Amino acid sequence: MISPRLALVSLAYRVRSDGFLDTQRGMEHARPGVLGYFGRLAVDCSFVSQIEITPQSVKSAVDAAVAAFSAATSLAELKKAKTEHLGEKSALSLLNATMRDVSAESKAQAGKLMGEAKGQVVSACGARESELAASEEATRLAAEALDLSSLGARRPHGARHPLTMLMEDMADVFVAMGWEIAEGPELEHEWFNFDALNFDEDHPARALQDTFFIEPIERHLLLRTHTSPVQIRSLLSRQLPVYVVAPGRVYRTDELDATHTPVFHQIEGIAIDKGLTMAHLRGTLEHLARSMFGEDAKIRLRANYFPFTEPSAELDIWHPTFTGGARWIEWGGCGMVNRNVLLAAGIDPDVYQGFAFGMGIERTLMFRNNVADMRDMVEGDVRFSQQFGMVV
Ligand code: DAH
Repeated sequence: MISPRLALVSLAYRVRSDGFLDTQRGMEHARPGVLGYFGRLAVDCSFVSQIEITPQSVKSAVDAAVAAFSAATSLAELKKAKTEHLGEKSALSLLNATMRDVSAESKAQAGKLMGEAKGQVVSACGARESELAASEEATRLAAEALDLSSLGARRPHGARHPLTMLMEDMADVFVAMGWEIAEGPELEHEWFNFDALNFDEDHPARALQDTFFIEPIERHLLLRTHTSPVQIRSLLSRQLPVYVVAPGRVYRTDELDATHTPVFHQIEGIAIDKGLTMAHLRGTLEHLARSMFGEDAKIRLRANYFPFTEPSAELDIWHPTFTGGARWIEWGGCGMVNRNVLLAAGIDPDVYQGFAFGMGIERTLMFRNNVADMRDMVEGDVRFSQQFGMVV
């Protein structure tokens, strides 16, 4: 049993820590004003009777500490609990302070009890500390998390323009047959656009209402009205034979409405070799029609006039599933390259012959994909493009 004196000293020691009493002199020397507190503390501090190292007192100090640690929900709370249960005012410390009063024969056992208790409490505190540190770290990381994938979604996906896709699909049909793709300038010289293609000086297409001429007019520059000038450029810049397709943008002075646009696209083809005939032209166009519309597609050629071909033909296409039923639709122009065109390009028309063709891409898209209004193609609304797929 603990002696009454020891209990008082221990209590006094504790109270001193609160700043009320001086242990050196004992409670009997406490300042008068503090004695009132002492009475209350004596009541509150019912542990007085427990200030003795017994398995029960030690266990209850350990249990209280462990419970307080596990009740702590933050590192800050745990720090408080640690001071309370492991600090110098803690029950364990108070018990420890009684060691010197334990009888010699019980000392070893009491020391063991205290040592184990301290070890338990310290390790419970450490375990809880790691837990709380981990969960606080996880919370902090979650709060700081940066979802890089969500940034990408801020910019909506675009889609390639259906005209570009269609133009490339058509060109691909020829690339697969070994043809080359050629390009020419959109700001073109009148000679390439008209003269070399055998247009008369007073051909109506040269009139200002059809062609965008560039000032000063004496420079003879214009926005090309078709892709046919690339025929001449290809013949002048390549070795024969020539098998070339030229997709590209062209300009005419049309008002923008449902079926016209001042800027549109064409694809041009020219083949110059020895012994080419209209049968080659027809076979080539038939292959293009079937590649683009399916095996059921048919073509027909109707006699027509173009300055740069002789004979010339209008190309019509037929398909059973065209909107409005199986019918013939005008698709483009074609013919055997006029001798004057070959001469303009420095080619002997008695040795080389060939064929050429050209068709509008907007027009093709309209009847192939049932687009009723050409303005949808130029407005740039991605919802229009997305209907044709998201090919990149
Ligand atoms: N260049 C003509 C146009 O824009 C289309 C054309 C017709 C091209 C006959 C050709 C052709 O190559 O042979 O209307």
